[in-house]
Amino acid sequence: MQNFAIVSFGCQMNQHDSDRMAEVLKRAGYRQVEDLDRAQVILLNTCSVRDKAEHKLRSEVGRLGVLKRARADVVIGVAGCVAQQEGERLLKQLPQIDLMIGPDNIPELPELLAAQKAGGTPVVRTEFDLDRPNFLAHALLDGDGDAAPSAPMAATAFVTVMKGCNERCSFCIVPHTRGPERYRPSGEILDEIERLARAGVREVTLLGQTVNSYADPSRRLPVPADSSADQTQKAAWKHTKSDRARLDESEFSALLRAIAERAPSLARLRYTSPHPRHLTRSLIRAHQDLPVLARHVHMPVQSGSDRVLKRMIRRYSVAEYVERVEALEQAVPGLTLSTDIIVGFPGETRGDFEQTLALVERVGFVGVFGFKYSPRPFTPALKLGDDVDEAEKSRRLAELFELSNTLRQRHLASLVGSEQLVLVEGRGKGEHWSGRTERNEIVHFSGEGELGRQLVRVRITQANKNSLFAVLVAPHAEAPPGSSKGPRRLPVLSV
Ligand code: SAH
Ligand code: F3S
Repeated sequence: MQNFAIVSFGCQMNQHDSDRMAEVLKRAGYRQVEDLDRAQVILLNTCSVRDKAEHKLRSEVGRLGVLKRARADVVIGVAGCVAQQEGERLLKQLPQIDLMIGPDNIPELPELLAAQKAGGTPVVRTEFDLDRPNFLAHALLDGDGDAAPSAPMAATAFVTVMKGCNERCSFCIVPHTRGPERYRPSGEILDEIERLARAGVREVTLLGQTVNSYADPSRRLPVPADSSADQTQKAAWKHTKSDRARLDESEFSALLRAIAERAPSLARLRYTSPHPRHLTRSLIRAHQDLPVLARHVHMPVQSGSDRVLKRMIRRYSVAEYVERVEALEQAVPGLTLSTDIIVGFPGETRGDFEQTLALVERVGFVGVFGFKYSPRPFTPALKLGDDVDEAEKSRRLAELFELSNTLRQRHLASLVGSEQLVLVEGRGKGEHWSGRTERNEIVHFSGEGELGRQLVRVRITQANKNSLFAVLVAPHAEAPPGSSKGPRRLPVLSV
């Protein structure tokens, strides 16, 4: 039996692909190991969103080249976005690589490895599955690759609902590396979630590059009653023209309703990453109606300056973003938001950046993922140059983090003394359990017995830099929110 190891470099989607690669290989008779020295096949699952991630890949390949000189039988494969982006070109630069495989070719992995072995020459396969998109589901394998899970499932799982991206944000390489949008039929999504829930998964995160633009290719989702014209009139946006608002509509809220109905044992449902322009009235109503939807949303904004947003081709203004997230916050009291921000985008002045800081403060994001602009191949922003120097980008990023840390500290401190429901994900350091609240705060506490995958009630005792300490109040606080069909009853007891 051959051993394989996978090193992941990227986002949740990248991690999800790594898990599916592992399943495909286990089914073909390979065994997964953590230790690279014991692996005959080493797969590097790469990210190319920023050039830092790409540098990391190059240095890792260099390091593995040393290992390969000592053990000639080792096969080095590069998967993910860098493989898709660079293909043959990277092979010429890094001759240690034996296999390059794009994200859509994962099911072919065993055959490609066999072909590489038979031919002894590098193999490249980076074709998009445009005609018949393939969405790899969790195989529910146990550690040895058997079909039935003997080991308990994790508390949380990712489920893909769409792939690719049709937006053309001028800085972003994803449309190039992941191809055009392809949506997964709703029946497949619902079946997978039902299976996961039956196997004990308590929280599902729906994945997609613009996850809330979802449209069901099989047209089997019921049209929600609330999409009638007069409802839309009543709730018209002030800063978004009504024809644009109609274009921004999607079937995402119908999908969320169908999931809540089909998998009532789910404690929590999340999604990432949404695009602000599809934060529609129907999605806000879904948040209001479905207690299973977590009261936390990650909503990338990228900049607080209209001038910069336009050059980024984000297709919304600051006012539109604010009115949509405020409507969501009003509909769901206590909901928190996090975001992505790029600093030093071409042409970003100090004034533009200050508008970003003002927006972060105004919205009160509890989490900010901040990035220095990094010019990427195949992106429209390349022609805008890269005129904010590195030192200035670093200063702006530090300032952004200082503000976001203050906001997070303030938020975490406000929770001390409150009671929260925590989904227990596992044991942390020592005897501590750790899990997350529905708003994604990480909580550590101690407790006797097996608490994994339980929804427990805790009282927060201390706020740390990025997490909370708590004491256990009730170990089985169940009554999963998904089982209540009525309007949202707030599960957080006091804030
Ligand atoms: N919609 C996608 C976005 C992928 S990229 C998703 O599912 O998350 C994730 C984040 O990386 C973006 O929101 C953006 O803030 C950042 N990013 C993308 N391209 C970048 C670039 N060229 N330079 C710096 N940051 C970038
Ligand atoms: Fe990238 Fe914009 Fe799509 S950030 S993934 S092009 S929504």
